[in-house]
Amino acid sequence: MFSLFGLAFIFIVGTGVGAVREKEYGYWNLTIVGGASATGWRYQDTTSVFFGRGDQEGGGRGEVQCHWVYNPETRGETMECTEGGFGYQWGDEGRTDITVQQTLENIDGEVGSITLGGTANVTLRYGTSANGRGFEGRVIVSAKRCCLGRMNG
Ligand SMILES: *[C@@H]1O[C@H](CO)[C@@H](O)[C@H](O)[C@H]1NC(C)=O
Ligand SMILES: *[C@@H]1O[C@H](CO)[C@@H](O)[C@H](O)[C@H]1NC(C)=O
Repeated sequence: MFSLFGLAFIFIVGTGVGAVREKEYGYWNLTIVGGASATGWRYQDTTSVFFGRGDQEGGGRGEVQCHWVYNPETRGETMECTEGGFGYQWGDEGRTDITVQQTLENIDGEVGSITLGGTANVTLRYGTSANGRGFEGRVIVSAKRCCLGRMNG
């Protein structure tokens, strides 16, 4: 018979520092290409493919593309993604860390959709376009259960 003491012990061990391993569901393979014009327009194009840990070898979940534009005249920015359930955000002005979030179906045999998120450090290469204002990078972001709320405004 399970004693109450036994259950409490398991609970304490399970929540101890470092004891809780967050389950990893897979990762996003993200490509980022950006740039700016002399007149102050800025843009960023990202392509993301999610790979589920439980998915077949090479079985990505389909590409999601996002296009972001900053308009210096209105000082407004717009973000459009090919899937509403996907979003990303930079953690800082210098674009050194990126947070990704996506709602996906049938992950690891779970019924319905779940939202996964992850953050990773990015090293972008600068000076990749003719005007010298371009940058690009590639990053793998591992996916955990999240939620960070709504992204992309
Ligand atoms: C990420 O995508 C690039 C380009 O398709 C590919 O070369 C690379 O192997 C991928 N990396 C992983 C870990 O899936
Ligand atoms: C990013 O790098 C910083 C400094 O090296 C480190 O403390 C942090 O854990 C890293 N973040 C991720 C998500 O790997």
